[in-house]
Parts: sequence; C-alpha cells; structure tokens
Amino acid sequence: MRRITLTRFLIEEQRHKGVIQSDLRLLIEVVARACKAIAIAIGKGNLADVLGSNATENVQGEVQKKLDVISNEILLEANEWGGHLAAMASEEMDHPYVIPHRYPKGEYLLLFDPLDGSSNIDVNVSVGTIFSVLQCPENIDHVEEHHFLQAGAKQVCAGYAVYGPTTLLVLTLGNGVHCFTLDRELGSFVLTESNLRIPEETKEFSINMSNMRHWEPPVRRYIDELLAGRTGPRGKDFNMRWVASMVADVHRILTRGGIFMYPRDAREPGKPGKLRLMYEANPMSFIVEQAGGASTDGTQRILDIQPTELHQRVAVFLGSKNEVEHVTAYHR
Ligand code: AHG
Ligand code: MN
Ligand code: MN
Repeated sequence: MRRITLTRFLIEEQRHKGVIQSDLRLLIEVVARACKAIAIAIGKGNLADVLGSNATENVQGEVQKKLDVISNEILLEANEWGGHLAAMASEEMDHPYVIPHRYPKGEYLLLFDPLDGSSNIDVNVSVGTIFSVLQCPENIDHVEEHHFLQAGAKQVCAGYAVYGPTTLLVLTLGNGVHCFTLDRELGSFVLTESNLRIPEETKEFSINMSNMRHWEPPVRRYIDELLAGRTGPRGKDFNMRWVASMVADVHRILTRGGIFMYPRDAREPGKPGKLRLMYEANPMSFIVEQAGGASTDGTQRILDIQPTELHQRVAVFLGSKNEVEHVTAYHR
C-alpha cells in the first residue's frame, strides 16, 4: 500500500494544486506535531499525574483540567518560534498571545481549543484539539484582539485531532476534508481517507437532552418530532448519541452522518449557547461544509457571523444537510 504521510500530502497540495503557501504548510505540520505531544501526554494518564483539575479557572469561569493547561502550553511552545504566526488565541487564555519579539513573525493567526471535551478526560473517553487559521490583516505592527474578529468564512484552514482508540487528524484547506491516522510506530500522520462526505440523510441526532426544559420552542418541536419515531410526523425512528466531546460527536457525523446541536437555552439568558464561535463552531462548521454538510446557529450560516468578541458563544446546529435545514426552518 502506498502510504501518504501528512508531510507528503501537504507538499503535493502545494506543488500540484498550489492551494497552500509554505508558511501554512509549516503551520499545519507544527500543529500536527503538537497534537502528537498532546496525545502522548493524555495517554500517560495517572502514570504521569496529568488527570484531574488545576486550582485555576479560564476566562469562561470553567475550572481548568491539568490537561487543558498542558495542551495549551504544548501548542504555544510548538508554534511560537517557527516564524509562521503573528499571534495565537485560545480557549484557555483571556487575551491573544502575540509572538515574542525574539522570534520572526508570520502572516497567520492561529486559534485553538487545546483540549475539547475535557470533562471526559478523567473517565477515559475521547477528547480532542480543535484549531482554526486566519490571515492576519496586512501591515499590522502590533496584533490585537480585534484582528482575530473575522467571520469563519475567512478561515484558510481548520482541523481537529481526536484522541480516541486511534489518534486522528482531520483537516480542511478549503478543498475537501481529509483524515490522517497517527501511526505510532512511525510517529507520523498517514492519510487514511480523502474527501470525506457527510450523508445528506440521517437517522441519528446528538444533543444534551438534560437541558430540554430550557430549550426554545423550535428546538423542542424538532426534537419532539424526532422522538415520535415511525408513527410521528417524520415517519422514521431516530437514534441518539451524545459523547459530550464535540470533536467525537462531530467525527461520528463525518463518518456516518447525523445532526449535532448545542442550542441556546434559558439556563443563562445572557449566553447565546455554550460553544465558542471562534475556536469551536467556526472550524467545525468549515469542516462540515467542506464535507457537504451544513451548519447554522438556528437562523444563519455560522461561517457568516461577524464576531464581536474573541470568546463569544453561539448556538450550533451542524451535520447532515437535510436535518440542519429542517431545524433551521423551524427557527424562521
Ligand atoms: P470544552 O471541554 O473545550 O470546554 O468543551 C466542551 C464542550 C463540547 O466539547 C461538548 O459538546 C459540550 O461542551 C458538552 O457540554 P455538556 O457537558 O453541557 O453536555
Ligand atoms: Mn471545547
Ligand atoms: Mn477546551
């Protein structure tokens, strides 16, 4: 079997299709290397005292897991010296991390959720890393938060790693979605699937049902109809899955279809949903659209939202096109 490593894939994309610049190629390789380091840290578990929480909270007021902090540091250290970035932003940092003066600066902005699904870490269930790449506006002397506030449609690259039974890296550069599996003996990511497509039709949905009483009417109506099964208005039985790691739930949808929802709800009226736009919803929406799926906040395409804050939250409906359109229509 001809094995295409991530390095070869990126070089060939650059050479034949001209879709990526060498700095972007470096960026992706560095992020992939950081994901390998995170996979190793996660894999040690209790042997290395990496499980459990820190005494710290992040900007969202969530208690940080030790591995949230470790993963964040791995990504920062890996990416600061290569000259490919102007700045980074993360779920775990209040403000952007501007590349220190001792290193050369590049033209990209990197955003990440260093460890997604971290409530699953202590119970040995899949977690992941999500990242998004934007172009830094030109002729900027000092990068500031507002330079990051670009609509998701402007992303030049997005991806995620899932640390599950195997470690996978899923990537889009705007021409399809490709999946690489970590070969632990070689230490490299190997292309195992190209041009992933999300089936348009599905019989599987993903939502945290415990929040049902807090949902808005369109979501209640949609879920009620799914639950009514074969004799209900949808005329078929639906299955449900909720891993509580967005990466794992989205990866299942990329593999066999489905709809993932984290709607806004009445628990904390000031917050429009739980998930963060810039480093969770945007990269996942880019990937899902590139795989033929759809992604909205209930009323509009997520990739069209003009961000106003780095850590802003958003309602998310993504996955198989027909279902996303169905629930979005109920909001309209
Ligand atoms: P994070 O661990 O980065 O804070 O993200 C967790 C997110 C997402 O991965 C998942 O879909 C959702 O939170 C789960 O939320 P509930 O615990 O409310 O089900
Ligand atoms: Mn997350
Ligand atoms: Mn996280």
